[in-house]
Amino acid sequence: MALASQALLDAQLDLWQNTFAYVKSMGLKSAIDLRIAETIQHHGGGATLSQIATRAMVPPAKIPCLSRLMRVLTATGVFNAQQAPPGISSCEQLLYTLTPMSRLLVGSRNQVPITTLILQSTVVSSLFELGGWLRRELPEPCMFQLRNDHTFWELANTDPAFNALFNNGMNSDTELIMDIVVNEFGEVFHGADSLIDVAGGHGGAAHAIGKAFPHLKCSVLELGHVVADAPNYTNVQYIAGNMFETVPPASMIFLKSLSHQSISPSLSSPSWVVNGDQVGEIKVESMDGRLGADLLVGRG
Ligand SMILES: C[S@@+](CC[C@H](N)C(=O)[O-])C[C@H]1O[C@@H](n2cnc3c(N)ncnc32)[C@H](O)[C@@H]1O
Repeated sequence: MALASQALLDAQLDLWQNTFAYVKSMGLKSAIDLRIAETIQHHGGGATLSQIATRAMVPPAKIPCLSRLMRVLTATGVFNAQQAPPGISSCEQLLYTLTPMSRLLVGSRNQVPITTLILQSTVVSSLFELGGWLRRELPEPCMFQLRNDHTFWELANTDPAFNALFNNGMNSDTELIMDIVVNEFGEVFHGADSLIDVAGGHGGAAHAIGKAFPHLKCSVLELGHVVADAPNYTNVQYIAGNMFETVPPASMIFLKSLSHQSISPSLSSPSWVVNGDQVGEIKVESMDGRLGADLLVGRG
């Protein structure tokens, strides 16, 4: 084949791969919907196609399609496939097993809630607005609002199911990450006597910090509808409020998973000023920056 034709085919392949990239995340979503990781764990760490089909309630006529989904999921590293040991029926040549990634879909610290949130149709479909949003002069309305007619926080405030989906998602991420933060980077919490987790969701991070460092008095500042549903951790004080108006005093300030859109669509750059003064107010305000940090710990 002429070089030019080969280059054209290679380019077309790249185009197809980018066009169909969503199959990867939608395959993962289907694996969660069909609870495939749980089935594999249920069968002692290795399950055949028919075992997966049975527990997922996939009818026999669709088993070839399920087999194709499993090929996608093994190609993308969600599961491993190995030759089934002798004794398993000859049409069941493969035994599917978990990978480090899919082990995060089972067990007590599983990441199913946060993955489900991110792959939820309301959230995914906001990205359809990206091109149109970029053409607009002003940052507001954000992509989510352009798509859904209300902001993310308005929806969380008015739709209890979406609110629960969101808060459960954030909790699952927090539980996983905070073990590592506390065990590997715990020294940052020494020398302070109080901590405020700004926009701290249901207080999972503050609870984990307070449990590991009982000398720290931990509080969470959050929007009213989030505080209203928060669990009753005895070592966490909840404060309903708006972080842009006032942040109660504390010797340490903690921010986790606060991104540009999650705080306010009008913020567009990362420099944050954390001012503590003796009168007792810590002010959090955006300068002109995007807060890209997943985790920020500062002293007032
Ligand atoms: C991505 S979540 C992070 C929650 C928590 N830090 C965590 O990592 O689990 C962003 C949080 O910001 C809260 N939030 C948004 N705007 C806020 C505001 N103006 N004042 C206080 N909290 C706010 C939301 O309710 C939400 O819980």
